[in-house]
Amino acid sequence: MEAREQWGTKIGFILAATGSAIGLGNIWKFPFITGMYGGAAFVLAYIVCIALIGFPVMIIEFAIGRKTQRNPVGAFEKLAPGTPWFLAGGLGVAAGFVILSYYSVVAGWTLGYVFMAIADVFKNFTKPAEAGDYFANFAANPLFTIGTHLAFMALCVFVVIKGVKGGIERFSKIMMPVLLSIIIVLMIRGLTLPGAEKGLSFLFLPDFSKLNGTTVLVALGHAFFTLSLGMGTMLTYGSYLSRRDNIISSAVTIVILDTGIALMAGVAIFTAVFAHGLAPDQGSALIFHVLPTVFPKIPGGYIFGIMFFFLLLIAALTSGISLLEVVIAYFVDEKGWSRRKATLVFGGIIFAMGVPSALSHGPLADMKFFFGMTFFDFMDYMSFKYMLPLGGFLMTIFVAYFWGAKEFIAEIQSGCPKFSIRPVAAVVIITISGILILVTLIAGIMGLGG
Ligand code: PFF
Repeated sequence: MEAREQWGTKIGFILAATGSAIGLGNIWKFPFITGMYGGAAFVLAYIVCIALIGFPVMIIEFAIGRKTQRNPVGAFEKLAPGTPWFLAGGLGVAAGFVILSYYSVVAGWTLGYVFMAIADVFKNFTKPAEAGDYFANFAANPLFTIGTHLAFMALCVFVVIKGVKGGIERFSKIMMPVLLSIIIVLMIRGLTLPGAEKGLSFLFLPDFSKLNGTTVLVALGHAFFTLSLGMGTMLTYGSYLSRRDNIISSAVTIVILDTGIALMAGVAIFTAVFAHGLAPDQGSALIFHVLPTVFPKIPGGYIFGIMFFFLLLIAALTSGISLLEVVIAYFVDEKGWSRRKATLVFGGIIFAMGVPSALSHGPLADMKFFFGMTFFDFMDYMSFKYMLPLGGFLMTIFVAYFWGAKEFIAEIQSGCPKFSIRPVAAVVIITISGILILVTLIAGIMGLGG
């Protein structure tokens, strides 16, 4: 068997993991949930959740991955042989299928919007309702949605098939600096619009009366999704790390970059939205209904419109490839498949699984599959509300009470010898994260938290 691959450089790994974290969650979801749940107060809750849950769980995933050098299932099997813990990893691999199948549909819409921006379609929109109708028609058209979903999956397959170093790392090293440059340009454009300060105060001046249980629960759930935690993505990326790499500094960098980009996207979007007197609380439609009416009104809007949707597409791609990699790593490590075969076969299967999601805003819109939801909504609901938090919760319990804090700390210290914490303190911190995750999970089951 060939030797298992590793990242070529530390920066390559950081960019790939940051690429996984930064995705539709940052540029599409974060701004719209901030708009819905009260602006700056929500942002504050989100940052606290990132620090209390996101950061520790990311370190846990990196440590398990690097220690075992395996995919999520193999990792648990190696650390807890002969126990049912491998099922926690299996949940992650299953989540990879589920999330990518509908994530790719939304990513496909952004691909479609890149072409619409180039074709200058937005110039016809004067009101969000017009852009909304246009979007509804686009999302309802099977040819467009299945076509763009297929194109997006093909792009993911194209990168993943080339391997960890030659595909994922190389692609991320080129694309992440492009992403960062575009978001900086868009932020400056937003900040220089007349009336931009209204957007800034919405995002940064908290009104604490807006903080309630729902806000906090949404923030908790999103902290998880935005950092790609709970399904073994970071575990898999960590499994390609060498023992010399510093897990702590890597996690700090990734968390800061992910949060920074979400805030920058918020600045770019809300300065533009407020400058034109539009409502910030339009929900998931914010990007596809509201922004296309804003671009034609701002100087240089044609170019900024193209840049914005291209940015969204790159962000989605670097996340999509990480979702696919979890599935591929499992079949390569555990089943001995070649990377090529695994990527082609499972890229195809995930595409097929995504077809009902792609049709959920058109021919299948009235078909309710489970709990009165369309297929698309059900996939989103299952993964976001249950699979990721459950996976994350299991990982915290595993580290604190099965693998053991001493082993965990020793793993962190390899590559970061100065790191020191008492095992008891580590157990307390991990347990607190675990309890917070459990609260999110239970609240989700009870139908709370958005
Ligand atoms: N973190 C990605 C985003 O914010 O869009 C989504 C994601 C990717 C979630 C990979 C989970 C995952 F494993």
